[in-house]
Parts: sequence; C-alpha cells; structure tokens
Amino acid sequence: MKKLVILSGAGISAESGISTFRDAGGLWDKYPVMQVASIEGYEADPELVINFYNERRKQLLDVKPNQGHMLCAELEKYFDVTVVTQNVDNLHERAGSHNIIHLHGELTKVCSSYNPNNPKYIKELRPEEFEVKMGDKAGDGSQLRPFIVWFGEDVPRIADAAYEAEKADIFVIIGTSMNVYPAAGLLNYVPYNSDIYLIDPKDVHIETDRKITHIKKGASEGMKELMRMIAGV
Ligand code: APR
Repeated sequence: MKKLVILSGAGISAESGISTFRDAGGLWDKYPVMQVASIEGYEADPELVINFYNERRKQLLDVKPNQGHMLCAELEKYFDVTVVTQNVDNLHERAGSHNIIHLHGELTKVCSSYNPNNPKYIKELRPEEFEVKMGDKAGDGSQLRPFIVWFGEDVPRIADAAYEAEKADIFVIIGTSMNVYPAAGLLNYVPYNSDIYLIDPKDVHIETDRKITHIKKGASEGMKELMRMIAGV
C-alpha cells in the first residue's frame, strides 16, 4: 500500500464549528495569543490559561467530526495513512483515524506543570473531569496543566512526524495556513517524487518550489475531490 501522510490544521475542524486561529473572527482575534498559548502566559496567570482551555475542552462535547475528518479515516482503505495534526481536538480520533500524531498536544489530556512530557503524569480526562481547577495536582505535586504545546515550548512529536513525511508517497495539507513551525517545515521532508495536495478554500503562501495541486475547497468537498483523484472513488 502506498504511504499517505496528512498534515491537518484548524481548517479541517472549521465545518465542525471549531474556530480557526487566523481567519477573520478566529481565536487569535479574540484572545491575546501570547497570554493564552505561551509558556510565559501560563506562568504569568495559570488560572486564566487553565480556564481558556477548560472552555475549549468543554466545546468538544458539543461538536462532532465532519465529512473531512471521516474521509481522512476512509483513506485507510486505500493507503497506509498517518495523520499529523496541529489540532488539539479529538475529531480525527472520533472519525476513526488510527495513526494520529498530535504535534501541539491534546485538549482531552492534562499533565505536570514541572515536566509536561513526563508520561507518568499525562492523563486523559473523562468528560466529567473536563473542568480543571487551580489546586488540581499532577502526580508529582505540581499544578495540573493542559497537555498543550505552547509557543516557546518544544514540539516533542516533530521527529516522529518528519519520519512519516520522509516515507510519504502522497502528502496532503489540509486546513492549515502553514504559518507555524516546525509543523509547516514537514513539507521539506517529503520525497521529491511524491505528490503534494493542498485542500483549502483560500490561497496559502507556502515557502517551497515544489509542485502542489491546490484543491481550492473546504475540507469536506475538498476531501471528496481528493478521493476521486487518488483513489478513484
Ligand atoms: N476547510 C479547509 N480549510 C479551511 C476551512 C475549511 N472549511 N476554513 C478555513 N480553512 C483554512 C484557512 O484558509 C487557513 O488556511 O484553514 C487554515 C487555518 O489556518 P490557521 O487558523 O492559521 O490554523 P493553523 O494553521 O492550524 O494554525 C497552526 O497555530 O496558533 C497555533 O497551535 C496553533 O495549531 C495552531 C497553529
């Protein structure tokens, strides 16, 4: 089976009702990004940040995967698929994708504030635990914090993602403005003779001389067109 790697961003979840970051009215229009999505912001006001992610986490209870997510899962019938996502929602999981790498963490998980990547203290929250409070402790006694990669923090899974991109026969970029590194740099690992597709209703500036087939549609319609092009279905 050919290897197909998907790099997804907030745009794939837009049709599920989850705001993107940099579209008009996006999350970074409403919140000061460095206050709610950086390690300095967390250290300056942990309660504000914990509540910001509580709201985003609870929203997961009201949204569901859209056809874009579902078709990413359906591609597993035709290809060896790995989904590399910048998203912290669990919609790829709920759509049935099996091999998922979350580069920027996961909303449904919490971790230690001392050492966020210590697997011993990373915990999946049950829906009834979705409201994290100041004073909730990780196993090492530190404040429980969202298992999210903030600006200024390492992206531990980027090596795994690059390893997958190096093996991609087909690389699909969907719903990301390719603004944020190292995620956007994954394109540079894709072999030169591989096919690259972009699914996005807008033009996306991508620093590359590679040939990219741009399906200028939203996630659901774009994934349907991609399926016709690469799987003939
Ligand atoms: N279908 C597909 N793509 C869409 C749709 C849609 N229905 N609606 C919007 N888009 C596209 C936009 O045109 C844009 O190119 O999704 C992209 C969203 O870009 P961003 O809002 O910048 O989101 P993303 O690229 O995922 O941001 C990357 O930045 O703030 C950090 O950690 C955060 O993971 C995030 C990272």
